[in-house]
Amino acid sequence: MERTFLAIKPDGVQRQLIGEIICRFETKGFTLVGLKFMKVSRELAEQHYDVHKEKPFFNGLVEFITSGPVTAMVWEGDGVVAAARKMIGATNPLSAEPGTIRGDFGVNIGRNLIHGSDAVETAQREIGLWFKQEELVDWQPTL
Ligand code: CMP
Repeated sequence: MERTFLAIKPDGVQRQLIGEIICRFETKGFTLVGLKFMKVSRELAEQHYDVHKEKPFFNGLVEFITSGPVTAMVWEGDGVVAAARKMIGATNPLSAEPGTIRGDFGVNIGRNLIHGSDAVETAQREIGLWFKQEELVDWQPTL
């Protein structure tokens, strides 16, 4: 079954949007299989954002993601990677459609509330970076 990695960033946590965001993925019908509330180390932040290391905003990105607690999650379901990206909305919240998380709650590209893996292969890499195998729970909703 397909899985994706999502992280509610420090701004989403500070704005008390954890419940709202989890609710959207639960009510959509995806299954939560991993959940951690944590401070991110500089090492993990740099590995996670490795693809952006040459970008001018890289240092700010790492500073920000390590600045306060983050809610790291793994969600499971058919097509969950692309669906979660759609539910999250465009990277720049000002361009994100209303009805998406960033479109409904954000205005700043550097404070865009939540990260979601952009492809199945990226999701596998990110889940491996953030979670140990034993921190993921294999289960299926029965109702
Ligand atoms: P995220 O989905 O976490 O992936 C990379 C992040 O880089 C992105 O969300 C934005 O928060 C951030 N980002 C992308 N472009 C810019 C930019 N031009 N200025 C500042 N931050 C950016």
